[in-house]
Parts: sequence; structure tokens; C-alpha cells
Amino acid sequence: MLRVLVCVSGGGTNLQAIIDGIRQGNITNAEIVRVISNNHGAYALERAKAAGIDALCVSPKDFPDREAFHERLIEAVEEKKPDLIVLAGFLVVLPEKMFARYANRIINIHPSLIPSFCGTGFYGLKVHEKALERGVKVTGATVHFVDEGTDTGPIFLQKAVMVEQDDTPETLQKRVMEQAEWEILPRAIHMIANGDVTIENGRVRLLN
Ligand code: GRF
Repeated sequence: MLRVLVCVSGGGTNLQAIIDGIRQGNITNAEIVRVISNNHGAYALERAKAAGIDALCVSPKDFPDREAFHERLIEAVEEKKPDLIVLAGFLVVLPEKMFARYANRIINIHPSLIPSFCGTGFYGLKVHEKALERGVKVTGATVHFVDEGTDTGPIFLQKAVMVEQDDTPETLQKRVMEQAEWEILPRAIHMIANGDVTIENGRVRLLN
């Protein structure tokens, strides 16, 4: 059983897709051992509790400095001995230490086709605003492994989504979530849990 720890900051629809994926048998050999939010008000925490999953908030606001926050965050992760950490809309830059400790064991979902519309400052609705500003006709979502950079780690799965003429950032965000994010994030976890993926020379290789 792959022990999965999910980090969230907001609504938690991606978390819900993982919970449902496990329940419906689309994700096998995996269990969620803990959900961590950096934000007390995150609805994702309610979703975790409703599903009977251990959930807690580690907010920077509750600590005197960044170092103390990071220490508690690392501790909250390590307590559960996860095999995989999933960043599902997690808006915190991870503590440096975690990259080495969990090399090739952290994945993130990003709401564009990397390397477009990614990197520092590209999060949430901003990603879709920029895509609409540029006038792209196709966007999508990417699951990638996480390294020290912002959205620079090995690309794992991508799915394209069409942009429509009258899209607003909100309508585009919704379509990208429904048509791409909620599909490829659970699939990525299922593939890792079943040994279907490896990383060679910084690139993801799918095995089956
Ligand atoms: C998603 O668009 C994800 O790609 C982005 O943040 C959003 C999280 O949404 N990084 P939710 O909390 O899973 O509903």
C-alpha cells in the first residue's frame, strides 16, 4: 500500500478527486494517511474529515518565524512516514530539506501545459488570466515531480483542454479542473502506486 500524504491550501477539489478515485477503485494500492493544510479555513480540511482521513492545519500564522513553521511542517509529514507527497493546490514553497529527503517522491498538479504559464507568480486564477491574455487556443494541466525550482521538475502527465472564445479566467479554470486536473492527478497516483513509472536522467518514463 502506497502511503500518500496530501498537502492543500484551498477548496480541495483535487483532494476530493483522489478520495473518490480510491473509493471507486480507479486508484489501487494507495491510501491517504494524512491531509495537511497551511490554511485553517481551507474547505479541503472538511473534505478530509468527512472521508475519515487524518487532517491537520500547520499555518505559518501559528509560528513565530518561517523556521519554526518549516520544522513543524516537516514533523507533521514525517510522523506519517509517507511514500508519496501530493501537492494538490498547496500554495507554500516547501522547506529546502524536503527536496532531498523526498526526491522523486513529491508530485504537484499545475493548471497549465508546462512550460507555458508556470513558474513564480503563476498560481490559481492568475495562470488562466495569463493564458487568456496571450490568446492561446489550447491549455490544460500538468502533473510533475517536484524539485527545488518552481514547476521545473520532471513532467509526468499532461492533458490538453480547449479554450473557448468567451472564456473568463473562472470558466477556464473550471473546465481545466473538470477535464484535466481531476483526471490526471488520480491517474498519476495510481500509476506510482502500481510501479508504472520511473525517472531516468531527469525525465519520466512510463513503464506499462
Ligand atoms: C488547482 O487549480 C490546482 O491546479 C492549483 O490550485 C487549484 C487547487 O484547487 N494549483 P483545489 O483546492 O484542489 O480545489
